[in-house]
Amino acid sequence: MDIDQEYTKYIEEFEDLPTLDFIHQKVVAVVNDPTSSASDLNEIISKDPSLSSRILKLANSAYYGFPKSVTSLTQAVVILGFKTVKNLALSVMTYDKLFKNPRMGEKLKTLWFHAVNTAVVSEIVAETVGYPSKEDLFICGLLHDVGKNVLAMISPETVETILELSKKYRLPFYEVETKLEVPNHQNFGNVLCRKWNLPDVITLSVSFHHTPLEIGKNPNADVVYMVHVADVISNYIHPDQSWTGGLKIEEKAWNTLGLKPSAVRRIIKETKERMKNSKDFFEL
Ligand SMILES: [Fe+2]
Ligand SMILES: [Fe+2]
Repeated sequence: MDIDQEYTKYIEEFEDLPTLDFIHQKVVAVVNDPTSSASDLNEIISKDPSLSSRILKLANSAYYGFPKSVTSLTQAVVILGFKTVKNLALSVMTYDKLFKNPRMGEKLKTLWFHAVNTAVVSEIVAETVGYPSKEDLFICGLLHDVGKNVLAMISPETVETILELSKKYRLPFYEVETKLEVPNHQNFGNVLCRKWNLPDVITLSVSFHHTPLEIGKNPNADVVYMVHVADVISNYIHPDQSWTGGLKIEEKAWNTLGLKPSAVRRIIKETKERMKNSKDFFEL
């Protein structure tokens, strides 16, 4: 499953595409290896005190709601599960690499807010449709728009222009990109995910969240549909987000997931509740 090969080749040629540090690469290797254990992860993460303390901070956050404090990574794995802790590691790494771009000033804060909000909606959508691995949806929702960060690193001027046009003509970011006939943030995100060797399920969500039907018959199509739906609902909850607004749900994605219109109100209500407990994600 590949997208716009010509654009992909063009983006791959940029020299300043963000790269992962050695420890980060090791974390991704553990994430991708089905035989890896919690102690493998522990061994790697303990070499980076900042990474490990921030993972613990998130593990202790009100979002997960455990009354006793989690003091070690091993304990975090026991309480939250290996998958969740691996995803927290990816969350902190991504935040460090992509959301601290001085050339974009405060603008990335809005995008991080949208990332967390979409992660929460994605997880709730997964619970609503009974998807067994809701942890996957949190990380896929969190990372779905990382292509915008990549573009902001390579060409902040282009992002400024897209944001201005999007505001002026009240068009979604993605539609402005399409009208300008430049590689869009799905293309940039796709190249980044492959460069970082992120799991397929994340790469697909990043690459097809605006064009979910293009994924065809893929075993992870459901995940992409859920992230697509969650992105739109997330925008609906916070329509003031200049980077993200004005999107519509693809009917086929909605119907395939078997969602009922009445579910939307509950998803929105639940998201607002959980977002009250997500403060630690904003103080990473
Ligand atoms: Fe997007
Ligand atoms: Fe988005």
